[in-house]
This record gives sequence, structure tokens and C-alpha cells, in this order.
Amino acid sequence: MRKFAVSFGLCLALFGSLVSTQNCPEKHGRFPVSGQCDAYIECTDGEGVEMLCPDGLLFNDKNNPLAYPCQYPIDVDCGPRTKLQPAGATDKCPHQFGYYPMGDASNCGKFKNCAGGIAFEFDCPEGLAYNKDTYRCDWPDQVPDCNAEAYLNFKCPQIQKSPELGDEEIRTYPSPHNCQRYYICIKGKPRLYNCGEERAFNPETSACDGVENVTACATAPPRSKVQQVELPAESRVHQQIARGNRKY
Ligand SMILES: *[C@@H]1O[C@H](CO)[C@@H](O)[C@H](O)[C@H]1NC(C)=O
Repeated sequence: MRKFAVSFGLCLALFGSLVSTQNCPEKHGRFPVSGQCDAYIECTDGEGVEMLCPDGLLFNDKNNPLAYPCQYPIDVDCGPRTKLQPAGATDKCPHQFGYYPMGDASNCGKFKNCAGGIAFEFDCPEGLAYNKDTYRCDWPDQVPDCNAEAYLNFKCPQIQKSPELGDEEIRTYPSPHNCQRYYICIKGKPRLYNCGEERAFNPETSACDGVENVTACATAPPRSKVQQVELPAESRVHQQIARGNRKY
């Protein structure tokens, strides 16, 4: 009896699981816990054990039974399972695991990945904003919590709508801050583009050109190359991921 108590205690400590009084709907498999989204019942030979996902992850009852049962909230439809375990927040993370936006409406290009309560911070590629609804870096005008004009430091000029194009009209503007950048205004909201190394935006042709062909660049004080910030190896990998997710 004592031996049983010890191993039971060990099980609890290792897996955060509880022997459930609930019956298993089937002999084998994982099943949702009524009302709660981050717990599930693991059934083996008709014996049900209640398991808890790591804080911040949710049980996906539609998941392939061979896959890890807990996923990021974006991939899980909780339906009426609204309850969650108490959040294990740290000073940097609202939950132990997850992706979270940082900054505010005028600084929306940063996000963090929390793993075990530790925050790893990332920057979206230049000009893009972190969208917490899609877990992607996206055009700031597509991100509800981002003020594209404040973030990109550019206000689209009010224009007379052309009768043919109306709201669909797209206009291009040189950046007042940097001769190699330009803005495209779509429905009154800016998007920032970069012509690339040794290239600059030529307002006369409304296109990227060699820097030597753009007067604004010739007169500008020391011409900066495309800004390349060296990042530690790990964040570079993640930046690639963020870039891979870039939407066009
Ligand atoms: C600069 O302009 C000239 C004349 O239009 C063109 O032939 C040349 O290719 C341009 N330079 C670059 C680097 O695009």
C-alpha cells in the first residue's frame, strides 16, 4: 500500500496528472475534459487519467492521435471548453508558453516567444508588424492593433480619388527619411518598401534605380547601406522563420 502511494505521488509530480473518475468514451485515446480547454483524459485500456497541457497550450481534440496533444491557441478551437488552468505568468510572460506581441500601436514590429516562462524576443522584418491573430509578421495595415502611420512614421497624403479606381488606387511616395525606401499607400495606409543595397527610389520614375541616379541619395549625408543588424545566431534562425511567414 505504501509503495502504491509513493508511485502515485511520483506520477502526479512528473506528469501533473490526476486519476480521473470520468469514464473513457473509448478504450484508447485522448478525450476533452468537459468545460476545460487545456486538460484532457488519456485513456489506456479503458482507464482514464486526466492530464494538463503546459500552461499556455491547449488540447486539440481534432488532432492526429499520434501527434503531441497540446498546441498553440491559434491551432485549437476550444468551443464551449472555456476554462483554463491558472496562468503561470512570469515577469516577462503572461503564460509559460506562447507567442505574444510587444510594444504598442506605434511600435508593433516586436514579438516574443515564451518557453518555460522565459521570453525570447524577435523583430519582424523591416516594415512589417506582428499579428497576434495569425502569429505572422504582416503589413501593418493588416494588423488590427497596429497604427501603420505611427509605426512607419509616414502619413499618406489625402488624394483626390480617381473615378475609375476609387479606393483601390495605389500610390507610391519616396520616403522623407531615407532615399532607399519608399511607401505605397493602400486605402490611405502606408506600407514601407526597401529598394535594396546600392538601390534607391527614384521619384521621377516612381521606381527603384541605381543610387547614383537618384538626386536625393547623392546629396544625402553619408549614404547608409541597407541596414543589416547582426543578430545572435539563434534569433537569426527565428528571423528566417518570421520571414518565411511573410505575407505578400
Ligand atoms: C542609371 O540611369 C541610366 C540611364 O537611365 C541607366 O542606363 C542605368 O542603368 C541606371 N543605373 C542603374 C544602376 O540602374
